Amino acid sequence: MPKILIVNGPNLNLLGKREPDIYGAKTLDELNRELTKIAKELSLDIEFFQSNSEGELIDYIHKNGFEAQGLIINPGAFTHTSYALRDAISGVGIETVEVHISNVYAREEFRHKSVIAPIVAGHLVGFGLYGYAMALSYFADLKTEE
Ligand code: DQA
Repeated sequence: MPKILIVNGPNLNLLGKREPDIYGAKTLDELNRELTKIAKELSLDIEFFQSNSEGELIDYIHKNGFEAQGLIINPGAFTHTSYALRDAISGVGIETVEVHISNVYAREEFRHKSVIAPIVAGHLVGFGLYGYAMALSYFADLKTEE
């Protein structure tokens, strides 16, 4: 079974409490439970990781990125700033989908630029939590194409 890493960056542990008008009322645990069900239906093996620390995210990708077949990442605000996270993803050479819950292009200007986007397969922006499920479908399809 292909292994897909689902990684959430800073402040996404606050889902459900954090600006619910933007990010919704569901918690990260609730989201992860739903994704677990979807992954089972799609025959994907998934592993979750969340950290507020740039270094921990990078270490996790180094440790797990070579063996896994896919990475779904919402880098939170590191999206806009972290060349180090970008280098970690390209360094392990893992097929990656970037997910943003909100439509970052309809928000503050600093959110319009992703330093991660140029090195990923694609990014899903503004579909709410559904973006994570869409990314899982993408990896399920990739698997059947092989
Ligand atoms: C976010 C958008 C980022 O700009 C923000 O810093 C986040 C969440 C999103 O999912 O919409 O933390 O990545």
